[in-house]
Amino acid sequence: MNNFEFFNPVKVIFGKDQLGKLSAQIPANKRVLMIYGGGSILKNGVHAAIINSLKDYTVLEFNGIEPNPKFETAMKVVEMIKAKKIDFLLAVGGGSVIDATKFIAAAAMYSDGDPWDILAKRKRVKAALPFGAVLTLPATGSEMNNGAVITREATHEKLSFMSPLTFPLFSFLLPDAAATLPQRQVANGVVDAFMHVMEQYMTFPANAPLQDRFAESILQTLVEEGPKAYANPANYEAMSNLMWSATMALNGLIGCGVPQDWAVHMIGHELTAQFGIDHARTLAIIAPSHYAYNLESKKEKLAQFGQRVWGITEGTLEEKATAAIKQTVEFFHSLDVDTKLSDYTDAYKGTAQKISTRFTERGWAGLGEHQSLTPSDVEKIVEMSY
Ligand code: NZQ
Ligand code: ZN
Repeated sequence: MNNFEFFNPVKVIFGKDQLGKLSAQIPANKRVLMIYGGGSILKNGVHAAIINSLKDYTVLEFNGIEPNPKFETAMKVVEMIKAKKIDFLLAVGGGSVIDATKFIAAAAMYSDGDPWDILAKRKRVKAALPFGAVLTLPATGSEMNNGAVITREATHEKLSFMSPLTFPLFSFLLPDAAATLPQRQVANGVVDAFMHVMEQYMTFPANAPLQDRFAESILQTLVEEGPKAYANPANYEAMSNLMWSATMALNGLIGCGVPQDWAVHMIGHELTAQFGIDHARTLAIIAPSHYAYNLESKKEKLAQFGQRVWGITEGTLEEKATAAIKQTVEFFHSLDVDTKLSDYTDAYKGTAQKISTRFTERGWAGLGEHQSLTPSDVEKIVEMSY
């Protein structure tokens, strides 16, 4: 096992009828800005419950954070924060709203020039406004981590940042609010959480059996509970298990002391930036090709995954590894998630070359757990995904 530091300060408040506790989490006299998306929280009662809990606070609202949140929109919120002297942010919705709020919290306090540099140049965040989150969509894990992914519309770039200052102070996890999710978003959540585990697990053996079993238990739970939540988002028990699995998939715990990959996410973000494909679906497109292309270096873990998650006991290491990839693709298909780029767009030709050129320009010379995946490898993986 490798050395590691683990720090996660997020207070989690999980379950039904919890929003009455919201006011107790926010210091008195704060001027709160509630940040949300396109209005789903107005329909499922979450907005009303928050307003009720915060009746003793000054609460302003910004609605209109879009899925794959935009830098341009976030900067409008920063202006509002400065004009209205806001000193506490509350993100209400899915990963996009929480990610946007993290960036806004940092951008509002940024004094070293253009806040875009936090993403494009990985400039250090030296201060951030405090914020909390209310989660209505199980998927990203953003509610219990310090990362965010922001898109610049003008240049079709989708970039991420992390900072110790951008953990939510608290996150309410509301499985009952997720009952109003369209099925497609539930499928996205299952696949995104699944792939977060895979990025931290599908590498090479590192003699970290506890982390492996954490990872496998989340994958197994997603395989069992995900389809139930997909079939009926109002199934509270299944949605609860999906939501907690998604949070645990990316709160830092399972990645302690083990090699991590993340190439699927890096490539996937390009497909969202270019074609607007949902984040999770870009992962379903890239992952099978990525694992097949890197079979040699990943076959031990792929076979272990095949055995422990899919019950594949027959065959050589390579055969088990290949069968595990096939089972994963079938699982995604069972959630009606397509796994080829051509299923999503007719304009896929040239995409592989374009992504590889971008990675070269950004100096991303070696991705993956061995930092050995070159832009030319990336090009081949994307071509295999057509
Ligand atoms: O905007 P509203 O009206 O709220 O509607 C949203 C949105 O249209 C809707 N929704 C959310 N909760 C709902 C609901 N509809 C009905 N009932 C509810 N209870 O769902 C739509 C999608 O929401 P979004 O927040 O975009 O989805 P998700 O949570 O999947 O977030 C995706 C974003 O997170 C980033 C992705 O790149 C993408 O931009 N990620 C963030 C990560 C992180 N911070 O750690 C890691 C991930 O790998 C990922 O990259
Ligand atoms: Zn993801």
